[in-house]
Amino acid sequence: MTENFHGHMLDVLIPPKIIILLILHVLPVPLETRFPADAPQGSLWPLPQKVQTSEASFKLSGSTFAIVDAKRSSAGPSCALLQDAYTSAFTPQLFVSTDELTVDQPHAVLKAPKVWGALHGLETFSQLLYEDEYGAKIINATSISDFPRFAHRGILLDTSRHFLPISTILANLEVMAMNKINVFHWHIVDDTSFPYQSRTFPQLSQKGAYHPYTHVYTPTDVKMVIEFARLRGIRVIPEFDTPGHTQSWGKGQLDLLTPCFSSTKPSGTFGPVNPILNTTYQFMTQFFKEVSTVFPDAYVHLGGDEVDFTCWKSNPDVQNFMDQQGFGQDYKKLESFYIQRLLDIVTTTQKGYMIWQEVFDNGVKLKPDTVVHVWMGGKYNEEMSNVTAAGYTTILSSPWYLDYISYGQDWQKYYKVEPLNFKGTDEQKKLVIGGEACLWGEYVDGTNLTPRLWPRASAVAERLWSAMNVTDLSDAFQRLSAHRCRMVERGIPAEPLFSSYCPSEYKHL
Ligand SMILES: *[C@@H]1O[C@H](CO)[C@@H](O)[C@H](O)[C@H]1NC(C)=O
Ligand SMILES: *[C@@H]1O[C@H](CO)[C@@H](O)[C@H](O)[C@H]1NC(C)=O
Ligand SMILES: *[C@@H]1O[C@H](CO)[C@@H](O)[C@H](O)[C@H]1NC(C)=O
Ligand SMILES: *[C@@H]1O[C@H](CO)[C@@H](O)[C@H](O)[C@H]1NC(C)=O
Repeated sequence: MTENFHGHMLDVLIPPKIIILLILHVLPVPLETRFPADAPQGSLWPLPQKVQTSEASFKLSGSTFAIVDAKRSSAGPSCALLQDAYTSAFTPQLFVSTDELTVDQPHAVLKAPKVWGALHGLETFSQLLYEDEYGAKIINATSISDFPRFAHRGILLDTSRHFLPISTILANLEVMAMNKINVFHWHIVDDTSFPYQSRTFPQLSQKGAYHPYTHVYTPTDVKMVIEFARLRGIRVIPEFDTPGHTQSWGKGQLDLLTPCFSSTKPSGTFGPVNPILNTTYQFMTQFFKEVSTVFPDAYVHLGGDEVDFTCWKSNPDVQNFMDQQGFGQDYKKLESFYIQRLLDIVTTTQKGYMIWQEVFDNGVKLKPDTVVHVWMGGKYNEEMSNVTAAGYTTILSSPWYLDYISYGQDWQKYYKVEPLNFKGTDEQKKLVIGGEACLWGEYVDGTNLTPRLWPRASAVAERLWSAMNVTDLSDAFQRLSAHRCRMVERGIPAEPLFSSYCPSEYKHL
């Protein structure tokens, strides 16, 4: 797979060079059993960079169908990840994901330089399959060469506004793989609840979760999510957002948050993390040391968005500190003071960091490999231009807030976005490593997450994977309708695009 993952992120997990030869035994299909052409059979989503299909089709024979490692493959039986993918790929719960895929008689061949490419290739292969009217599995002769346009193709799920059961998270990782999404941005804690169970500070979830036993992610849960994701070629980037969005942290960690004042007395409420105490930084050092060992990805998301200065302004100790530091009344300077120290702390854990755009906007000094996450609406093209002009890599989310819902086919709006549509040099455009669809959790829990996310996030997935000129809405509608039915067939309650039917409708358990 020619995925660059912005350097390295997954490289730690895999051997360097792999060639997989996937051998499938296929038989030619007599003309009369071919599927009528009205439904787009074998439709691919996201569309590969190069596809050549033909009318020649083959029937997969159950008795001889096999996936075999080629003799010259460097993967072989010792690559457990692929062996797992082979077996799960063609059981009824199809999930499988190219570099080069050639389907012909008597073998289909899949070649990929990395294991992640092989996974994507398996997914593509599974999408080429369709059934004739007798239920036989058919595949047309096809030649594909593929690679993603952007290395970072993410989905943000929020497990703080509502707790999401592990089963919901795992099910959606499965769907992410079907859509070749490779980053799960886990917005794990926020104001409302702190479900992350910390080994170092167990009181954080004990006091800060909605429920200390039923509404938490234990270390075992977190491990399971990370491994489940890895097996599907998905990175897990946790977000521990500070100094704002931290009300739930304050319940388990005394003195972490700033006491707000009403005239001359503490009002009993609390604001953002208290940036003037040394204990704050001692806590963050220990906390992020743990986070860096629990989450193997090379990056952690540090938030830094939407800091409300009202409480800081009300607190006389904070005012004194501002005077001492010479910040005047510029509370952005205080915010930057905090973030700067936090970034230094996280740097000592050998992790790279992602941050929301405000941190950049406020002029905090960032490491060159920082990923600036652009989320604000309105002038996001100008922001992309500014961030890349300053030499930082960036990902885009502004136009992809999927928590906003409306009547109609809003997938088209997401699909039409062009992330490089900003003023800038070629060098600047290269700094855009991808984007993320965000599904914030105020109105979302296990009951409605999956249909709300899919296939709307699929539109973002194709924008981030396929070539820039893949913009034809009616072609996309056809393929996405078929892809949505494929998700439904695989047991995923993906919502409809418009009036339609699926050959095999969703069966509720
Ligand atoms: C696959 O082959 C069938 C039967 O020959 C043909 O009708 C169909 O258009 C082909 N599909 C594609 C995507 O080329
Ligand atoms: C906080 O740390 C700084 C620098 O290490 C030190 O000068 C200061 O005295 C400390 N403050 C308190 C209250 O311990
Ligand atoms: C981009 O930078 C310019 C020049 O510093 C500034 O005027 C503008 O407000 C910035 N745009 C955004 C969206 O922050
Ligand atoms: C996109 O551009 C490529 C290369 O120029 C071309 O081969 C391909 O046909 C174009 N695809 C579409 C959908 O326009």
